[in-house]
Amino acid sequence: MTISSILFICLGNICRSPLAQGVFEKQMANSSLAGKIRVDSAGTGNWHIGERPDPRSEQTAAKYGIDISSQRCRQLTASDFHEFDLILGMDPSNLSNARAANRTNGTAQIELFYEYAGLGAIKIPDPYYGGEDGFEEAYEMIKQASDGVLHRLGAG
Ligand code: 4NP
Repeated sequence: MTISSILFICLGNICRSPLAQGVFEKQMANSSLAGKIRVDSAGTGNWHIGERPDPRSEQTAAKYGIDISSQRCRQLTASDFHEFDLILGMDPSNLSNARAANRTNGTAQIELFYEYAGLGAIKIPDPYYGGEDGFEEAYEMIKQASDGVLHRLGAG
């Protein structure tokens, strides 16, 4: 199946998945798939709906020339499973939460981001309760996984 839309998900949609959206969008824009895939992000939880990304995520992205400050947190909805071809979670709990939220049997493929990228069944740790280092680590992991996904989808 051709993938024409990807939704990145995490728990809060303020740390990892906004960063994943920003990094993936930038890498895609510099690839042969530029403009070909719709990208968005959402959280399985509802605590931060309407908020900007965590300042540490915004700062980490900005350090690498990516502006994610206009993103606003939203919660994963049942319609997302019908509207997106692929839903990529940062850790296994994101996948189980998402599967439970797919109450209307949408057809989106739900996968672990790192694994779909061909890098193994590895989770991207939640940096929310830690320090700055966790955000740098998340950025590096997201960058690698985005490269892997773009490669898998045929980007040159
Ligand atoms: P994220 O991190 O899932 O990477 O956005 C979190 C952000 C907020 C919370 C948990 C994780 N929270 O419990 O509010």
